[in-house]
Amino acid sequence: MERRLTLTDLRALKERGEPIVALTAYDAAFARLLDRAGVEILLVGDSLGMVIQGRETTLGVTVDDMVYHSRCVVAGSRRALVMADLPFLSCATPERAVDSAGRLMQQSGVQMVKLEAGPDAEAVVERLAGQGIPVCAHLGLLPQTVHKLGGYRLQGREPEVAEAILRRAQALEAAGADMVLVECVPAALAARLSEALTVPVIGIGAGAECDGQVLVLHDLLGVTPGPRFSRDFLAGRGSITEAISAYVAEVKARRFPGPPETLA
Ligand code: KIV
Repeated sequence: MERRLTLTDLRALKERGEPIVALTAYDAAFARLLDRAGVEILLVGDSLGMVIQGRETTLGVTVDDMVYHSRCVVAGSRRALVMADLPFLSCATPERAVDSAGRLMQQSGVQMVKLEAGPDAEAVVERLAGQGIPVCAHLGLLPQTVHKLGGYRLQGREPEVAEAILRRAQALEAAGADMVLVECVPAALAARLSEALTVPVIGIGAGAECDGQVLVLHDLLGVTPGPRFSRDFLAGRGSITEAISAYVAEVKARRFPGPPETLA
């Protein structure tokens, strides 16, 4: 019987320099398709607030929503590691984080949670790790802070901000993070992060030198107008399966993201 990938498997991919392929998934049918195409991490992202629920931001997504969609994705997949987002404010304190992550893991069966690493994230990561809960720390552009940021834009172009992101990533790894996801930062910064950390660094809008890549499924299929760093893999291809397989192959060959999708 096929077994699920573990953090140890993903770390082994990083160690041998083989890019890790991740994609968002929100339901069982797509989870099955992505799993069979060789996607190694299925991220039940709170982006579901926008692409599934039609909201303007991710802020309205609840832990209940995440449990429901995560359960569907776990049910549809056999091999991929399934990771779910902790939605807005559900990890604002270590106590809330344990409660939210515990519900997600017990009620849906996901193997890992991801949190947007705000200023107090080290304490939250430490508490989760202490409870044996695998955590991915999301750095760079944090969509849950969009109203504070005033829009979705590149983070870490200024040298002092880039250094601060690098230091945060190292502090989060030291606190117990098992993975880092970095969104919308210059490719050179993401390459430094991947080099500096032992844990896998998964990028979105962060260049080809990360340890792995993730995209929002609906952007990859051209269902939603993706950001500049995304690519419509269905364009010019005959089926969704072909589009997903092309994404897997392009990431594994480090041909995605290419120069047009790379931010500096
Ligand atoms: O919610 C999500 O889909 C994400 C991706 C942007 C990585 O966090």
